Parts: sequence; C-alpha cells; structure tokens
Amino acid sequence: MSQYHIKNLEEYFQVYRKSVQHPELFWEEIAEENFVWRKKWDNVLSWDFSKPELKWFEGAKLNITENCLDRHLHVRGDKTAILFEPNDPNEEPEHITYKELHERVCEMANVLKDQGIQKGDRVCIYLPMIPELAISVLACARIGAIHSVVFAGFSAAALATRINDSDCKIVITSDGSFRGNKTIDLKGIVDKALESCSCVETVLVAKRINSEIVMKKGRDFWLAPLLEAAYKDCNAEIMNAEDPLFILYTSGSTGMPKGMVHTTAGYMVYSAYTFKNVFQYSENDVYWCTADIGWITGHSYIVYGPLANGATTVMFEGVPNYPDWGRFWEIVEKHKINQFYTAPTAIRALAKENLSFVEKYDLSSLKVLGTVGEPINEEAWHWYNDNIGKKKSPIVDTWWQTETGGIMISPIPFSTPTIPTFATLPLPGIQPCLMDENGDEITGNQTNGRLCVKFPWPSMARTIWGNHQRYKETYFSTFKDKYFTGDGALRDATGYYRITGRVDDVIIVSGHNLGTAPIEDAINEHPAVAESAIVGFPHEVKGNALYGYVILKEAGEGRDQDNLSKEINQLITERIGPIAKLDKIQFTSGLPKTRSGKIMRRILRKIAGKDTSNLGDTSTLLNPDVVQEIMENAL
Ligand code: WT7
Repeated sequence: MSQYHIKNLEEYFQVYRKSVQHPELFWEEIAEENFVWRKKWDNVLSWDFSKPELKWFEGAKLNITENCLDRHLHVRGDKTAILFEPNDPNEEPEHITYKELHERVCEMANVLKDQGIQKGDRVCIYLPMIPELAISVLACARIGAIHSVVFAGFSAAALATRINDSDCKIVITSDGSFRGNKTIDLKGIVDKALESCSCVETVLVAKRINSEIVMKKGRDFWLAPLLEAAYKDCNAEIMNAEDPLFILYTSGSTGMPKGMVHTTAGYMVYSAYTFKNVFQYSENDVYWCTADIGWITGHSYIVYGPLANGATTVMFEGVPNYPDWGRFWEIVEKHKINQFYTAPTAIRALAKENLSFVEKYDLSSLKVLGTVGEPINEEAWHWYNDNIGKKKSPIVDTWWQTETGGIMISPIPFSTPTIPTFATLPLPGIQPCLMDENGDEITGNQTNGRLCVKFPWPSMARTIWGNHQRYKETYFSTFKDKYFTGDGALRDATGYYRITGRVDDVIIVSGHNLGTAPIEDAINEHPAVAESAIVGFPHEVKGNALYGYVILKEAGEGRDQDNLSKEINQLITERIGPIAKLDKIQFTSGLPKTRSGKIMRRILRKIAGKDTSNLGDTSTLLNPDVVQEIMENAL
C-alpha cells in the first residue's frame, strides 16, 4: 500500500482530498500497485445509484486467492498465515504457513470440483471457527464458486432459509463444535435443516469433536479422506472483476434475511487497503480479530484483508470466558498479539470481571486496539484504553456494515486523534453525508442526521441475491442518489462522526444485527399468540436487549405466563437462534397503533427503556388507552 499508506494526519488529509477529487485515479493506483491481475481493467468505475448499478475495475481478470496465497509463496511461504488457537487452552495451537494454506486450499478446491461444484455454484459453509472454515472459504474463491457462510450459531430453520434462498448445492459442516465447556451438534442441525432443502446434493463433514453422528449414504462424506486423496495444486479460476465472490446474509425489516452479494475485484481492493491502514499492520506483526468468520468482520478482517497483505491472522475457536475470563489476555500474551480487534459487548462483559484476569498477563505487545459492531460507550472505551492499551495503544472505533464490505469511518492509528464514542473520520474514498427528514443534505457541522454515502466505493454490496428490487428499495430509495445506511449519526464541530444507532427496525444486540420482523414472525407462530412487537432497550453488557410485547389469543388467556415466556423463547431459538431470545416479555391486551394500523414502536421503545417522561402526543392513536395499560404493567 506504499503510496497511500497513511502515517500521519497531514498525509491522511492529502490522501483523502485526492480520493474525493480524483476517485477513479486514486483507486486505480491502489489496484495497480498492490495486487496481481491476470488482466487489467478497461474502466475503473461506472455507476448509477438510481438503478442501482455499480461496476468497479470492469474488464479486469483475477483470482482473489492468487492475491491472498500464491503471490506470497516466494516471499513469505514459511510465514504463518493462519494461527489457529483452539477452544481448549491445553490443545496445541496450529501454525499454518502460507505454503501449507495454499496446499490445503487447493486440496479443498479439488474436493469441491470432484463433487461437481463449478464456477458460479453456491456453497453453504456451516462450520465452527476451525481452519477448515477459512480453507473452505478460500477454496470456493479458488474455483469461482460463491460461498455463503452461515454463522454456526443459527438454528436449523434459519440455516434452511439461507440454503434455499441461494440454492446451495453443497453444505460444508463438521460433526460438532466446541464452545467453552459445551459441545454443539452441528451435523444434527444440518440434518434437520436439509429436511426442507431439496437443492443440496452433498454434505462434506469435517471431524472436530469425534461425536457419533449419522451419515446419510450417498449424501454425506467425511472430509479428511477426500482431502487426503486430493491433488495439492489447483489452478485458480480466472474471474471477472464483477463476478460474485460471496453471499452473506444480514437481517432486514422483513422476515426474509437479505443475501448481500459481494463481487471480486472491488471487495479485494477495499478490504486489503483498509486492513493495512486501519490496523497499520507491518510484516512481523500478529493480528487477532475475535469475530467469527460467519459475520462480515471475519470475512474481511480475518480472511481476505489480512491474507491479501501477507499477514499472520489468528483464528480463535473458543469464547472469552473459558476456562476463565482471562482467556483473551492469555492468548494476547502467548502469541504476542500486536493488533487486537473485538466488539464493545465483549469489552463490557470483560470489564465487569475482576481486573486480576487482565493483570496476570503481559499485554505489552499490543500496538493497536479496535472495536466494531455497535456504538462503544464511554465507560467501556476508557476501560479498554486504560487496562488493555495502557493508554499507549490507539483505539480504532470502526464503523461499517455487512453491506459496505469494509471499514468506512475509523481513526487511522497514530494519525487521527481519537475521542471516545466517535468513529471519527471517513477513510479515503468514502464520502459520507447527513440527511434531514425532508431528504436534504445537512451541510454544516454540529448536526444530527441520517447517515448516507454519496459516492461509490469498491466494496459496496452489488445487490441482494435474487431480489434487486429490495436492494434498491432498502438502500437507494429513502434518499435520492444516496446510499442509505439505516444509521443515525452526529457530526461534531471538527467533522468527526459519532454513530448514534439504527433508525430502522433493526436492533443491534451484542453486536449482532437482528431484524424485528423475523423475531415477531417466530413469536406469532406460537398457537397462543395473536400479535407481537419487539423493541430494543439499553442493556449493560449487550448494548441493547430485546423486549417483546405479546398479545394472547383466547387460547392463551389464563395460561401460566412464565411457561408461555419460556415457550416463546424456545420458538425463537428454533427459528433463529439463541442470540435472538427476549430478555423481557410483557403480555398486553393491545399495542399502540396509528389510524393506518402501524404499530408505534417509538412509544414501545420508550416504555421498555423506562423513559416515559415524554411520550409525545398519543391522542391521535387508534387506541390511546392501551398506552396507560402497557405503562402500568411494564417490566
Ligand atoms: C450495523 C451493521 C460491520 C461489521 C459488524 C456489524 C452498527 C457497526 C459500529 C460502530 C456504532 C456500529 C451500525 C451498522 N455498527 N459498527 N463502530 N459504531 N455502530 O455488521 O451486522 O452488518 O451491522 O452495526 O448500526 O449499521 P452488521
């Protein structure tokens, strides 16, 4: 990233200015200098937000795995690419060098080919955080298959929805997974999901926990013997710049998750460029992002961004509190981690525990700390800064989304002065703006507005799989010719951005993006439930927790409410996963609605958050009396 590798604030402003004045030239130079191409592009960018249509590096040919693997073989073949830290601290970590990773990706790619997987086919990956996960992702990219990683905490029903939506031919999974002192029967979940997926022909199973599982004849195959028999070399499929690289599902405001589609060249350029600048990675560093590869953070900043930079990237299988709350810091000491990237919810959970868990370990290797996924509150920021970074390591509060593919607003460490709770300034190439309720851009500083982006960047999602209309409506219809993020933000006097939270029906719980609609759909399936509404309320560790208002049918009246609550949470766990369970459930006779029948979530949010001093005018509601009832019985 020579030319545009930022090392001080002045450089940031210079580079930023250039990126706005000459965006195409700017990205062209980055693409030219830092990657290997089979053929260069004919045109850097063409775009039309009204359609919306976006093309970056059109005409170029490449394979992203040649950039993440092959080109490193001669310069850093024996360097650790992936450092796997198992769930059990007594199990040996695994250092996978670039040479080994290349071989293992090629073997996996050959196995997929043997199973008939071709360029453009969709491959569902449902794996825990073990090396096979990263290897499967890269193997798909190697042969031009489109990977769809589903986080292995999702339920069978959620997995089935995602498999069917993108018509996956094959599922890669494992017998089970370790999570602290528990094991999870992943293969059992896959079996259940596949009862309703006719598109899947093959299931490849990695062995991890050595559990007894049922293998369906002709459909299920153990991975290890297939890998062993496979060739260690596999030619990379030559891809067009705009060929899809992967699909990753994110929650939306309807029940159906949105399969965000990312394409090859732009995603590669942006994830690699931002990794380099935001973490200031240098050759001998060891970098650790604690996210799961099942989320975009893991795609861009465990796999593609770091590997495109020839970095050593840690993959951690376990959880922060196993065997105790010192585990993260034990790993930092053991592997001499230089850059550490985690979520505010993890920081808040860690900060609640005794400081001795931190003080036991030598954290002096740390140079840069990062956060992602939700706003970080001031208290958590200071705890992180004081106790982990010892006030020496800058904290990068990185704002971005599944849809943006890479970090959009973030300090550049050692260049951008940080202020707690501010994601600070846009990265080069990013042109954010704030919009008011009338759809006009707010130009001054010290204002609040809806956060949009007015110019394309290379790693924008290009569409929603199978539903371009929904893509257009969700992101490009609220404000003309702007990409709408769904977030609110404040811009201070110096132009720093602070993200204030979602302005739509998405709630961020422990850094996980949850749509209210799919949860309400799950609750409404309960035979005793007539209707429900979900809102978020502030929670000490999770950031937000879920509060459900439930109206019962006649059948449910007189039933024990604790039991009903348990059944409702059980249903949510089955339909979506445990991450979407409700913290509080209030049974009510009605919900506040407008005269057109729309639920007034604003009122429900205030009641859930115990902030009822100013509920606004409720007299225009269809049923103003219900507000009083809900307030009296609030939990
Ligand atoms: C939403 C996107 C980006 C990877 C993980 C989440 C919220 C994300 C921040 C931050 C405040 C943040 C936004 C955004 N968010 N980072 N630094 N400060 N809010 O990806 O699941 O697509 O969620 O997460 O609300 O829209 P995602």
